[in-house]
Amino acid sequence: MKIRNTMLPVLRPVGGEEEVNAIRETIESGWWGKGPKVSQFEKEFAELVGAKYAVAVNSATSGQDLVLKALDIKDCDIINPTISFMTTAVVPLWNNCTSNIVDVDPVTMCIDPEDVKNHLKSNTKAIIAVNHAGVPAPIDEIRKFYDGLIIEDCAHSCYTSGAGTKGDVAVWSFQAVKTMPCGDGGMITTNDKDLYEKLVPMTWLGITSTYSRVKKDDGLTGKPGYSWDYEVDMLGYKCYMIDLQAAICLEQMKKLPKNLEHRRYIQKRYNEELSGYIQTPPHSETVQYYCAKVDPYHRDKLIDYLSSKNIHTSVHFKPLHLYNVVKDMNQRDYPVANREWKKLISLPCHPGMDDEDIDYVIYWVKEYFAENKYTYIADDYIVHHGVIVEEKN
Ligand SMILES: Cc1ncc(COP(=O)(O)O)c(C=O)c1O
Repeated sequence: MKIRNTMLPVLRPVGGEEEVNAIRETIESGWWGKGPKVSQFEKEFAELVGAKYAVAVNSATSGQDLVLKALDIKDCDIINPTISFMTTAVVPLWNNCTSNIVDVDPVTMCIDPEDVKNHLKSNTKAIIAVNHAGVPAPIDEIRKFYDGLIIEDCAHSCYTSGAGTKGDVAVWSFQAVKTMPCGDGGMITTNDKDLYEKLVPMTWLGITSTYSRVKKDDGLTGKPGYSWDYEVDMLGYKCYMIDLQAAICLEQMKKLPKNLEHRRYIQKRYNEELSGYIQTPPHSETVQYYCAKVDPYHRDKLIDYLSSKNIHTSVHFKPLHLYNVVKDMNQRDYPVANREWKKLISLPCHPGMDDEDIDYVIYWVKEYFAENKYTYIADDYIVHHGVIVEEKN
């Protein structure tokens, strides 16, 4: 097959006339900051995920930080999974907490309840559970022995049915390559009214939003009104979403069912055609990442080979306990993550891919294994092509 001359990205956002028009309309409205579009998006998103309240923020990272601050969780220990993005390891540090990183399940790559149990400390006040690549984290299992705060990290699970309903509070991401992207953005959803009422002003330095003080009607005289004054009773931050972001999110939300269907279609095609060559991932409703596995011997070679064919891949994720910023406080063994992450390779998966793109990836993955055909016998497993055909205990 001829090598394409444009790069096929592993992930990418796709927008069209609808997003362009929504931005234009917002620009022309004269209200670019936090305003009616954000309110509409919060309302519609809460309905989508079945939550009572939603607070839009400028990223999931800010959202997780804000939840800890709103609940006064600081100077304690916070558990988070090693297969995740840097956010979950670092946000605890911002709040003067220890980032207590634990191991994951070998199949789902989500947080391992047994390892959580083994590493709970007397001062553990929160657990961040990531729905990795859209696969739900085992929050029910964790609940059996832990009754403290669980933050459900839904950055990859927008929208997996039931996502966001297991934790005490859920945090979502609309960052550029997520399933409902707007460039950067996030949402906190909760059924806790007190938490909600605290979070809203905290997104803007403790100030009630200007838009909420613009009264189209004062309710008595029918005359327009506006209140410029406000009080600040709490320490707040600056991490609200603005209407320019919400305008894109609202359009992306309409396209979400179609885009997710397309992601699942790509997942199905890869599963059907590549199952003899790669270890296919567990089913995901969002397929935020198509996280295949191959034998570690092949992983980096395959990444380089596909890159030479103009196919970009990625790894979701290198374990967080290997990064210097949190390494010292997590000096222990991570047998599952240390073994499994070396097999991870994310193949391109996004709504911008057509059948020709999918065929192209499938062709070159097969071609790699045709060129590198062998059976490899390691101490604890046997591999044929990239697939582990037998594991010895
Ligand atoms: C598991 C996880 N949590 C949190 C985040 C942070 O999201 P954001 O970029 O919106 O801050 C990401 C981003 O990729 C993520 O993968």
